[in-house]
Amino acid sequence: MTLHPSDGAHAPVSLVDEELVRDPFTAYARVRESGTLVRGLIPGADPVWLVTRYDDVRLVLTDPRFVSDVTAVPGQAVPDVVEQIRAATGIAPEYLDHLRRGLGDVDGADHTRLRRLVSRAFTARRVAELRPRVEEIAERLLDRLPEAAENGVVDLLRHFAYPLPIAVICELVGIPEQDRGRWREWSAALAAGLGPGMEPALRGLADHTRELIGRRRAEPADDLITELVRVHDEDGDRLDETELVTMVISLVLAGHETTAHLIANGTAALLTHPGQLAALRRNPELTPRAVHELMRWCGPVLATRMRYPTEDVRIADTLVRRGEPVLPVLAGGNRDPRAYQDPDRLDITRDPGGRRETHLGFGQGRHYCLGAALARQEAEVAFTALLRRFPGLRLAVTADDLRHGPNPGAWHLASVPVRLQ
Ligand code: HEM
Repeated sequence: MTLHPSDGAHAPVSLVDEELVRDPFTAYARVRESGTLVRGLIPGADPVWLVTRYDDVRLVLTDPRFVSDVTAVPGQAVPDVVEQIRAATGIAPEYLDHLRRGLGDVDGADHTRLRRLVSRAFTARRVAELRPRVEEIAERLLDRLPEAAENGVVDLLRHFAYPLPIAVICELVGIPEQDRGRWREWSAALAAGLGPGMEPALRGLADHTRELIGRRRAEPADDLITELVRVHDEDGDRLDETELVTMVISLVLAGHETTAHLIANGTAALLTHPGQLAALRRNPELTPRAVHELMRWCGPVLATRMRYPTEDVRIADTLVRRGEPVLPVLAGGNRDPRAYQDPDRLDITRDPGGRRETHLGFGQGRHYCLGAALARQEAEVAFTALLRRFPGLRLAVTADDLRHGPNPGAWHLASVPVRLQ
């Protein structure tokens, strides 16, 4: 049987529905167990197909018939998204280009060429070399944590989970320390989406990146900007100017917000599961496994960006037509009982799978997270250092008082108030 929205067999789901934003895992489980694809509604956008079963999410992320760039779909009448954003915000088109020329936005040969230029900086070996520096940054932040407490309570998100990854990715890429505060503000403004803050943020990021590029050209350093400037200057066909600026911006943006929320979600999950926390304190060698499990159970990315089939494709019992937007819901696949025994249970001893873990939290396929090894390492360092330093660490609010949202694609806490003793 082929279901289509006109059949009305399953009511579409609003992705900004309060209940879904508050508890996406239950809401997506309902969609998943309905046995078919269901439409998701996002205000102001075309309806999307929600893909929530583990095997189906993997299919969409790994099958070359699905692309990230809708303009690659043959015969597709593509709405000029850039023109729409320009009309709504007044942003000059050369700045808007940075929103659609990143690694995650392109497919095929362009994607392979761009990814090859940066993948060396993020291999397991290069990441392992960074570990002592990540530990040093984490320890320094923890030194200052008691001073940040007000009435004995400190927001771990603001004072630890956020500053750690931004310091690491900025050092790796080459953003000077005194400019990092501005980068955080610009990135928060972009994360807030369409609005008056978007234009100055995009302009600020692009102009500042160009300035840094100029400086590194004159005075090379041991960072990724210097490496990319060299590639651009030696062979512009491999990396043009817009791509160079976009790469720097997108690496910094992709590299901190998500990791901060893995550290925040993970700490909150451990503090609300005393048995798991005690097991981890007793056996710190379980930390890498715990990070895999926390990525599966409360990973900060609930759904990837949209994919588009280049031809009609049947998923489960639904015929998805060429060009129709499909949303791979990682949070649905990661809690699928067909893939995991007792999937809603947090179990830090769970087998994470083979060389590349089985969970979907970093995506799968060609667009698999470039920074996965780095993010995992940062989280390992963060949990290890935090638990060792503060044996009496506990939440300062009840689990019910922890607030997530409001972005339906992201599982982000607003704050993590804790007592250190
Ligand atoms: C891609 C999650 C940390 C850089 C992705 C994707 C996911 C993801 C789900 C796939 C998106 C898609 O298929 O549409 C996460 C999570 C992180 C994290 C949960 C932290 C816990 C990082 C870090 C970096 C990074 C530290 C630093 C460089 C990227 C890049 C891509 C990507 C560049 C695009 C790769 C491509 O399209 O080839 N990430 N990420 N991420 N991530 Fe991460």
